[in-house]
Amino acid sequence: MSTTRFLTGITTTGTPHLGNFVGSIRPSVAASLSPDVQSFYFLADYHALIKCEDPVRIQRSTLEIAASWLAAGLNPDHVTFYRQSDIPEIPELNWLLSCVTGKGVLNRAHAYKASQDKNLAAGREADDGVTAGLFMYPVLMGADILMFKAHKVPVGRDQIQHIEMARDMAASFNHLYGEHFVLPEAAIDEHVATLPGLDGRKMSKSYDNTIPLFSSREQLKKLIGSILTDSRAPGEAKEVEGSALFQIYQAFATPAETEALRKAYADGIAWGDAKNTLFERVDEVIAPMRAKYEDLIHNPARIEATLLAGAERARALATPFIRELRSAVGLRSLAQAATAAKPVKAAKAALPAFKQYREADGKFYFKLVAADGRLLLQSTGFDAPKEAGQAIGQLQKDAGALQALSARLAPVDGVQADEVAAALQALADAAAAA
Ligand code: TRP
Repeated sequence: MSTTRFLTGITTTGTPHLGNFVGSIRPSVAASLSPDVQSFYFLADYHALIKCEDPVRIQRSTLEIAASWLAAGLNPDHVTFYRQSDIPEIPELNWLLSCVTGKGVLNRAHAYKASQDKNLAAGREADDGVTAGLFMYPVLMGADILMFKAHKVPVGRDQIQHIEMARDMAASFNHLYGEHFVLPEAAIDEHVATLPGLDGRKMSKSYDNTIPLFSSREQLKKLIGSILTDSRAPGEAKEVEGSALFQIYQAFATPAETEALRKAYADGIAWGDAKNTLFERVDEVIAPMRAKYEDLIHNPARIEATLLAGAERARALATPFIRELRSAVGLRSLAQAATAAKPVKAAKAALPAFKQYREADGKFYFKLVAADGRLLLQSTGFDAPKEAGQAIGQLQKDAGALQALSARLAPVDGVQADEVAAALQALADAAAAA
């Protein structure tokens, strides 16, 4: 196999904090150094417009995020590092994908549903304040990913659904117009820590509990000093379990250093001393990057040039690819049409698909989704992924298994049994024909 292509985007709405560093910047920069990967990292500034209507903040955040990644060691000669809005082929692809994406699929996107639920809970209309941009968010993300034929997309768990949607868009498009897209997969790094913030909840801008990655030394000391601890006095043994301070330390220290702090906790280290230990350790990691960051942030024109060079490299791929895609869907020069007409495969009826996933309750589920995105079948929770897989296997083999499995299926509003049976039959027929 050739090299694997990784691609990920960073929405440009905020100032990078220690949680972003540990959870995304540091592992991504490390991954980009591996010889058998090709990395595409970009600033998702079109996506930022969905969440932020402050132009100054968008521009500032773009600068800060670019400077942070570069200061953290991202090498723009090895990584294709660019700004989404410098690639006009992306919104163009966005439209092509919009035309193969079921509206029903987007109706079920978590981010959109969460906005609706919030509205309904507050007694407002479901779509109150929901822009078409928010609704279309997953399609734009699909365009980001499919444009560069990414195999792996490193994201947080909250983004897995979007990657699955991108995969489905690619499959639908390929099915209709021939094999053009690579089917991407989410890459979730189990070893990467989620950092707690000042108040012990996940460090996040929305909780206002962050420590900016490039605070000054003084500011960093002050912020670390304000991390929530319990009221145990010096000399009293302290719990590492649930200690935000300890968890942050762990993300910056070696295993041996972490063990030493664990012992100090048991021996009753004073909170003030523990905070100082944490501060010095974090600062040791940040200080060399801070100098580079300061230098970069004061030279915005240099960052601009880096991003434009990255965009040029990205467009060297995007421009010919969008040409291919336009031709595939029939957006063709009339002058060439007579000679360039390729026989178009008769479009087969799109097929329903099984999806397997895990819910917050820790159980494993599957569902059957029609080609237009409508939910046809929904399982109850299984304890093991294998059990869910076996049930799918039975259903794929024989529509009659519906009866046998009825206890493991949850009712779906407005779906008739014979429609489900017909969908299963279509799948069985397609498998037999393949
Ligand atoms: N939606 C992603 C986030 O909020 C950012 C993003 C935009 C992205 N486009 C992408 C991530 C493409 C991966 C691939 O984290």
